[in-house]
Amino acid sequence: MGPPRSLRRVKCLEDFAAPARAFLPAALWEFVSTGADGRVSLRGNRASFNRYWLKTKILTDVSGRSTAKQLLGKTYGAPFGIAPMGASALFGFEADLAFARAAAKANIPFLMSGSALIPMEKIAEANPDAWFQAYVIHERDAIAALADRAWNAGFRTLVITVDAPVAPNRGVNLRQGFYYPMRPTLRIAVDGLLHPRWLFRSFFRTLVSTGMPHIENYGTGRGMPILSWSAPDRRMHRDALDWEDMKWLRGRWKGRLLLKGVLDAEDAGTARGMGLDGIMVSNHGGRYLDTAIPPLKVLPEIAAEKGGMAIIYDGGVRRGTDVIKALGLGADFVFVGRPFLHAAAIAEEAGVAHAIELLAAEIDRTMAFLGCADLDDHRLGLQIVPEESPGP
Ligand SMILES: Cc1cc2nc3c(=O)[nH]c(=O)nc-3n(C[C@H](O)[C@H](O)[C@H](O)COP(=O)(O)O)c2cc1C
Repeated sequence: MGPPRSLRRVKCLEDFAAPARAFLPAALWEFVSTGADGRVSLRGNRASFNRYWLKTKILTDVSGRSTAKQLLGKTYGAPFGIAPMGASALFGFEADLAFARAAAKANIPFLMSGSALIPMEKIAEANPDAWFQAYVIHERDAIAALADRAWNAGFRTLVITVDAPVAPNRGVNLRQGFYYPMRPTLRIAVDGLLHPRWLFRSFFRTLVSTGMPHIENYGTGRGMPILSWSAPDRRMHRDALDWEDMKWLRGRWKGRLLLKGVLDAEDAGTARGMGLDGIMVSNHGGRYLDTAIPPLKVLPEIAAEKGGMAIIYDGGVRRGTDVIKALGLGADFVFVGRPFLHAAAIAEEAGVAHAIELLAAEIDRTMAFLGCADLDDHRLGLQIVPEESPGP
């Protein structure tokens, strides 16, 4: 059984963007695709991959190659996972569940967003191996309550996003009238009406099946509805969060604990010293601090601080060759964001499954060209050649 008709022309992850753009209201499309301020980091994330070239290796029998890769004690079918994306279910019908199910079937990790509009308990039920990403504030009772909820739901891998101490400036979104939660304006209503496929297949269908989506996973109870006149002021408190909070959480959370949003080797060393299980080297897909360094540039120096931690890369991964480059530069695994959300918007679980297959096939193909039968082969790193700098 091949991909659904709507995906017949989608042959790589980047091909999901155009149909997703046509499907989504303009404000939603901008919300998913844009970056902060001048979008320099957003572009830099992609451009950083083009600074490396791959050397092929000929006449090596790679007929028995495998894309399997170990991460945090589990062997996955491919070396990539689905990154957390807030409000996904506003884009595609029950998108987080589509991620959860497609990831479980393909045996890849799925990290659900703490800003998801579907309760974490439902996600854990659909995929008992799913991970939970939390946005936490400097209030330990609140952190403890959220962590307990995640534990009781069955999550054993908790990821704290630490690169968002304050709200970003995404001018495009604000100009489009997109706030989070969204404010019900005439402009938003017209935008929705102009995109009837999204309106019926995603938004109205959600209203009929589960009612108005709410921000479900910030605390122990249900949060605000996604359409609301007033935005929560929680973000304001995140700027007080510090390493002591993480040390305390390490002592309390019995499962695997990771930080997401690390770009500094010294911070990586601190995380290792605290006994964290891993870090995600990420600039949040260029969505928070603009001109934040593309994570690929700092990956090797951060990987040098690895110790026993898992090093996970995210930002701008669109091709199998990107995955191989990140692994060769020191990552154990990569995560991918936007293309999976595009895929879930236009074709739900089948779309996500198609995206997973495409990326896995590209990795497999790249491995064959590099004469590499297994992803832990240390020679992988030797076949990645940096572009020489043009000099002063
Ligand atoms: C629409 C959208 C929502 C996001 N929401 C979250 C979130 O709730 N938590 C988080 O840690 N990262 C969030 N991210 C960042 C992603 O997890 C990831 O770091 C980034 O998208 C990776 O870059 P890529 O999209 O180029 O693959 C979001 C990204 C997008 C595009």
